[in-house]
This record gives sequence, C-alpha cells and structure tokens, in this order.
Amino acid sequence: MAETITIIDDRTGKQITVPITEGVFPSAALRELDPNLRMYDPAFLSTAACKSAITYLDGEEGILRYRGYPIEQLAEKSNFLEVAYLLLNGELPTDAESEKWTYDVIHHTMIHENMRKRFVDGFHYDAHPMGMFVSAIAALGTFYTDAKSIDETNSLAKQTLRLIAKTPTIAAMCYRFSMGLPFVAPDNSLDYSANFLNMMFRIGDDYRINPVLTKAMDLLFILHADHEQNCGTTTMRVVASAHADPYSAAAAAASALYGPLHGGANEAVVRMLQDIGTVDNVPGFIADVKAGKGRLQGFGHRVYKNYDPRATIIKKAAYEVFEVMGKSPLLDVALKLEDTALKDDYFVSRKLYPNVDFYSGLIYQALGFPVDMFTVLFAIPRTAGWLAHYAELLHDDDQKISRPRQWYTGVDARDYVAIAKR
Ligand code: CMC
Repeated sequence: MAETITIIDDRTGKQITVPITEGVFPSAALRELDPNLRMYDPAFLSTAACKSAITYLDGEEGILRYRGYPIEQLAEKSNFLEVAYLLLNGELPTDAESEKWTYDVIHHTMIHENMRKRFVDGFHYDAHPMGMFVSAIAALGTFYTDAKSIDETNSLAKQTLRLIAKTPTIAAMCYRFSMGLPFVAPDNSLDYSANFLNMMFRIGDDYRINPVLTKAMDLLFILHADHEQNCGTTTMRVVASAHADPYSAAAAAASALYGPLHGGANEAVVRMLQDIGTVDNVPGFIADVKAGKGRLQGFGHRVYKNYDPRATIIKKAAYEVFEVMGKSPLLDVALKLEDTALKDDYFVSRKLYPNVDFYSGLIYQALGFPVDMFTVLFAIPRTAGWLAHYAELLHDDDQKISRPRQWYTGVDARDYVAIAKR
C-alpha cells in the first residue's frame, strides 16, 4: 500500500500526490495546487511545525522518551543535570563530560548583585513569584553583552550554561523576596537540587537537607525537563525563529507556562483540592464538572489519551515524600477524585486521565513550597528543554521566521466615519 496522499482541488480539478513519511506529509504541497490555499488549523491540532530529535511522545500509549531513553529509566537511574546534558547534546555524558558539565553549572549559579538589589527589590511586596521569575529571566540577558551573539557556538553554549545554572538562584531569590527573607547565596559544595532547596529554605545555620527530599526535587526536575512541542516550547521556538536572544525567548516561554491551562495547572489542582475540602464533597464536585461548571484540574491532555507516564512516577514519589514530611490531608481527596473520574463515562469516553500536574502540586506542597511557587518549579527544569529546542531550531535549515497565515473574518473595506457621525 503506497504511503502517499492525493489531494484534489475540486474547483479546478488539479490534483497532487505527495508522500506520507511517518504519518506526516508536507503541507507545502497545497501551495502547488493553489498558492492562496490555506489550511485552517487553530491550536495546531494537525500541524507538525518542525522536525525534532529531542523528545518522543506517544499519547495513545502513554510513552515519553528523551533522546530515545524512556522517562521511567531516566527517573530511576539518572539525575537532572545529566538529563539536561542529554537533552542539549543528544547523548548521555561520559564520566569526564559529566564532571566538567556539573562543575561548570555549579560555578555559574551566582547572579549579579544588581539583579537582587535593584531589580528584584523593585517589585511590589506581594508580587507573584512566577511574574517576577518571567521578568527576571528577560532582565538577566541584559547583564551579558554577548547574550545576543547566538550565531557563535561558544556564545550560545555560554548563555545556555548561564540560564540552566542561574534559574534556581533566581527562583529562590523571588521566593525569599516574597517572604521578606534574606537572600541565600548559592553553595558550590551542594549538587543542583540540594543547592536549590538550600537557597529556598535555609534560615540560620541549622538547616539540613534531607536526601529523600533532594532526590524527589531532582526527580521532579527530570520529569519536567522537556515535553516536545507544548505551548511554552512552541513559544520558545517562535521567538527563537526571530533570532531573539535565549533569555528573551525563555522569558516568553515562561510566560506561556504561567497560564493555568499549561504550567499553572498544578497550582490550580491544589486550589481545587482545597476548595473541595473533604472526600464527601467529591461526587458533588464531579457532577458540577460534568455539568460544565469548571474543569477537573490536572486531568486531560492535548496529546496523552492515556495515563500520563509522568503522573505514574510522581504518584509513587509522593508517597516517599509523605513518609518524611507526613501525609498531605489533600491526598485522600485527590485519590477519591482520580478513582471517581476514572470510573465515570464522561471522563472515560473523552480519554481524560491524570496528567503530570495532578500529583505534582501535592508533592511540591509536602516539600514545603507555597502554591505560588509551583509554576516556577516547573520552569526551572523546563529551561533545559527550551534551550535544546532553541538550538535545534537555529540549526534547522527548514526553519524560517515563524509567520502563520490567517483566515480574515472582519468587515470589508469601508470609509472612515468622522466622530460626530458615529
Ligand atoms: N475536566 C473536564 N472536562 C474536560 C477536561 C477537564 N480537565 N479536559 C477536557 N475536558 C473535556 C472538554 O470539556 C471537552 O468536552 P466536549 O467534547 O464535551 O466539549 C473534551 O474534554 C475535550 O477537551 P478540549 O478542551 O477540546 O481538549 P484540549 O486538548 O484542548 O485541552 C487541556 C487539553 C489540558 C487544556 C484540558 O484537558 C484541560 O483544561 N485540563 C485541565 C487543565 C490541566 O490539567 N492542564 C495541564 C495540562 S498538562 C501540563 C502540560 O503538559 O502542560
């Protein structure tokens, strides 16, 4: 059976046959039929906007792989910095590469004093940490004169290193500012995730980082590091296609992530669980969702039509954290919600399963993070994925500046009407 598709333009009788490769056909073929023909595809439901060799996702089967490695194996055996290296370079690092990469990241965690004293101090006392994070990432680029030299391989590698190293410092700084706590400088003797927890939570000298919690933090970073062409990553690519510097592009991607339908969903999940309050209220809440009064946050996904594999791993890790920190009172509500929804035809028929955010909020909360920080915690590791896509796009000869077409539905040409006559 030929792997081709034939498109006939019934207005002219012209037809064109093009190859289908791995389920994809070049829509440029449509231009051969009629240069003014457009495909209407809001929200890119049927559009592959790029080729990518970074992350493989099969939503029907619930498969997620970074550079070919199953997420389950990376979650069990790897660590975040190794995964970041893998995403950026395509291969796991050797011993020597790993040592150098880790050393380099850890020795770039400091930020310019003006970022804290002048930039962050200028925010209103109750500014949302994610709003601060987005602005701080964009501002960070202004501290480096070589930030915009993206055509030089060494410069782009330097900006990539800086962003990955400094995002935890910036995130912790935004949190400490919002709490009115003094800033804790990075500690080069700690690994990436332990250093982040230390900058977040150290008060005085007696703070001891629990290795179970550090491992959980690192695991959450691994699971959130990339997820192919989601809203934030697409934003990263669109901004990168204009050759904006990686700081500006990452700030734009982080802004997309801030949205409650994307990275803000973990925050929405915990607020939803708090609103539901007790297990007894779950049936009433589910009935409301089915009646169209709001959504079951943390359920459903554009691509996964099966259990999100990250949700399975997070659910297991949550229990390990609860053993150290005590069980979240919201866990029972979450379990009851999941159980009820997965037995209900409304959710089953629409293939709505728990996504990564359904349990991540509970684990973040158990680790001691306030709800406002949840999306920031997503943005820190996702920066590695964004930068991998940024570099991939720059080196892709098929790519040009992103510029979709539109289907104009406004009024036809008309003459200007003077204000007195309107
Ligand atoms: N609760 C109730 N109904 C839902 C939900 C939900 N969470 N999600 C989808 N539906 C229904 C929706 O009403 C629609 O029903 P109908 O066909 O009767 O109109 C059907 O399912 C399809 O929904 P859709 O909005 O067309 O699906 P989408 O692919 O555009 O939306 C989504 C995907 C993630 C935005 C959506 O499922 C949602 O809003 N979920 C809750 C928010 C959430 O958990 N977001 C985190 C996503 S995972 C993190 C990430 O990777 O970024």
